[in-house]
Amino acid sequence: MTDTDQALHSFTLDGKQVPFSAGETLLQAATRAHHYIPHLCWHPDFQAQGSCRLCQVKVNGHPGAACTVQAANGLVVESNTDELNRQRKTLLQMLFVEGNHFCPSCEKSGNCLLQATAYQMGMEGPHFEEFYPDRPVDASHPDILLDFNRCILCELCVKASRDVDGKAVFAIGGHGIATHLLVNSESGQLADSAMTLHDRAASICPVGVILPKRRGFSVPIGQRRFDMRSVAQEVQGGTE
Ligand code: SF4
Ligand code: FES
Repeated sequence: MTDTDQALHSFTLDGKQVPFSAGETLLQAATRAHHYIPHLCWHPDFQAQGSCRLCQVKVNGHPGAACTVQAANGLVVESNTDELNRQRKTLLQMLFVEGNHFCPSCEKSGNCLLQATAYQMGMEGPHFEEFYPDRPVDASHPDILLDFNRCILCELCVKASRDVDGKAVFAIGGHGIATHLLVNSESGQLADSAMTLHDRAASICPVGVILPKRRGFSVPIGQRRFDMRSVAQEVQGGTE
């Protein structure tokens, strides 16, 4: 893209010019330009889901999800404002109490996008009353453990298994507050599915639901992904 093209194809994000290519969303263009917009259910390799609302921004003064709004020339986008960050913190607190997210005892600690985003947004406590759900853990598979108590329903594992692995191991069931992740096998157990440790779905979960067995502490706490750089620094450094 030339300088002239760039001037013709850019929007402002918190006062900074962000160039974009045709078809890109605000979040795609911002991430490519190393600008952090908080997000949970979006992953650069998959089509946006638009469900977590962490990426909610203001576009020309109106609310919109940065992962689904198409970039357009001259848009004025606000993201890093006190009002939006307060809303994000509230959403995170609701997610934390809806599941069982006990970071000190979770082997995903330091590699977890939910935890890293909560740190980024300055969340210091759950604020709301905990639900303490009691969802069974599926340890049936020889190589993979499923702890459904931490699922944030981002559906990335559903897409990865269906679209990349060609297996459709996971699905979403139920409605409203009873919406939940399920395993698509005759018994409902992971051991009866075709899933293997090499599947894309085995490494896509942003939180601590889909866990490879016997590897939980191979990298010590304190030396993990978000122990080294915050989630914003990671995007700003260009590794997402
Ligand atoms: Fe998302 Fe993980 Fe739940 Fe799958 S198991 S929906 S990847 S949080
Ligand atoms: Fe946009 Fe979840 S990242 S709604």
